[in-house]
Amino acid sequence: MKVVGIIGGPKNDGNTHKLVRAVLDGALDAGHTVVTWRLKDLYIGHLGHFADETLPPNDDFEKMQADLESMGALVIGSPVWYGHVDTRTFNFINRTYVYNKYYSEENAKKWPKAKAVNVLTYGQEDENAYNNILDWYKMIWDHYGMTESINLVAAGTGDNPVEKRKDLIKRAKEIGRSL
Ligand SMILES: Cc1cc2nc3c(=O)[nH]c(=O)nc-3n(C[C@H](O)[C@H](O)[C@H](O)COP(=O)(O)O)c2cc1C
Repeated sequence: MKVVGIIGGPKNDGNTHKLVRAVLDGALDAGHTVVTWRLKDLYIGHLGHFADETLPPNDDFEKMQADLESMGALVIGSPVWYGHVDTRTFNFINRTYVYNKYYSEENAKKWPKAKAVNVLTYGQEDENAYNNILDWYKMIWDHYGMTESINLVAAGTGDNPVEKRKDLIKRAKEIGRSL
C-alpha cells in the first residue's frame, strides 16, 4: 500500500515533521511504500471562478495527484496557526476541491477510499483544545468517502517538543504500523 505523508508549516525538522515522520516510519516497518510531500516546497495556488465555473489554478498540485489517486492512507500534519491548520495545509485542503463531487463526479471517483491520519501539533497544553479541527478533518474525509479518520495530537510543544515525547513517538509508529 502507498502511504502519502503531507507536511504543512514551514519547518524542515519541526514538531509536525517529526510526528508525521514517526507515523511514516511505522508504515515502512509494516512494509508499505511511503511518499512525503512538504507543502513548503510546492506552490499551491487558489481556486478561481469565471463564467459560472470554479477554476483550478496552474500550480504544483498536479505533481501530487498521481500519489493522491493511488494512496491507501494519507498522513497529513499541520501546526496550529491562529486556531486552525496552518495556511499551507488549509490551502491544500481547499485545492482538493477538484476531487469534490460538486466540482466533478468523474474526478470524485479518483479520490481513493483511503484512511486518513490527522496529525496536529500546537503550543496550548490542553489535549482537547483543537478537537474542532479534528472534527473538521473528519467531516471532509467523510465527504470524500475515506474509511477512517485517525487523530494524533502533540499538545504543549513549547515545553514538550515532540522529540522529547517518547510515548507519543511510539504511538505514532504504532498508528503507522497498523495502517
Ligand atoms: C503563526 C503561528 C500561529 C500559532 N498559533 C497557535 C495557536 O493558535 N494555538 C496554539 O496552541 N499554538 C499556536 N502556535 C504554536 C504552534 O502551533 C506550535 O509551536 C507548533 O507545534 C509548531 O509546529 P512546528 O514545530 O512543526 O512548526 C502558533 C505558531 C505560529 C508560528
